[in-house]
Amino acid sequence: MPARLITIEGIDGAGKTTLAAGLREALVARGIDAVALREPGGVALAERIRSLVKDPRLEIADRAEALLYAASRAQLVAERVEPELAAGRWVLLDRYVDSSLAYQGAGRGLGLDAVRAINEFATAGLSADRTLLLAIDPSAGRARRGDRGEDADRLEREADEFFARIAAGYASLAAAEPARIRTLDATLAPEQLLAAALAELADLFE
Ligand SMILES: Nc1ncnc2c1ncn2[C@@H]1O[C@H](COP(=O)(O)OP(=O)(O)OP(=O)(O)O)[C@@H](O)[C@H]1O
Ligand SMILES: [Mg+2]
Repeated sequence: MPARLITIEGIDGAGKTTLAAGLREALVARGIDAVALREPGGVALAERIRSLVKDPRLEIADRAEALLYAASRAQLVAERVEPELAAGRWVLLDRYVDSSLAYQGAGRGLGLDAVRAINEFATAGLSADRTLLLAIDPSAGRARRGDRGEDADRLEREADEFFARIAAGYASLAAAEPARIRTLDATLAPEQLLAAALAELADLFE
């Protein structure tokens, strides 16, 4: 069985990190060696970039924001993702290129083509074998984040309209690539969501 790159996408508070942890456990229980990594982050340079892009005290122009995410992704791919896949381990990524297409392309209005181009360069063309998109209403996502009790970061301080543009951006990406991007109802209970996610990956286990 070839090692696979699975990415998990959705707006803030959709449940990506929760699902990534559950999926990793479920894969390991099936005898599949898997690692879960988060974006931006996962390796030292990318974690430092993460703290920059999340810092509410910094002014970051839209194009600079897109490039920071792409730089963080470039390091993660080179330092961890490629070596893990080469070693036969599955990689579960909590966000990947589609996040930039949705947030910077649609949300910030930079356009899909420009954001796709810098990410193609950043990742050297490495694309996900399957993407699980957690669909949730922006206000429900916001409420879930609030429940976590952390201070809002730089992006989380954006208005609901920003997240509505992102959700619409994700939906059009999923419509354009239905074989890769599978949309899941993020309002399902965690166990049901995990089962639905595994069903969308079932063909990859063969
Ligand atoms: N399926 C679910 N049903 C109900 N609550 C959930 C579900 N999944 C996650 N949660 C809760 O919602 C909150 C957000 O979940 P999580 O941190 O996994 O989202 P996220 O998409 O990773 O958010 P962020 O984009 O901010 O990293 C957490 O408090 C989590 O416990
Ligand atoms: Mg998360």
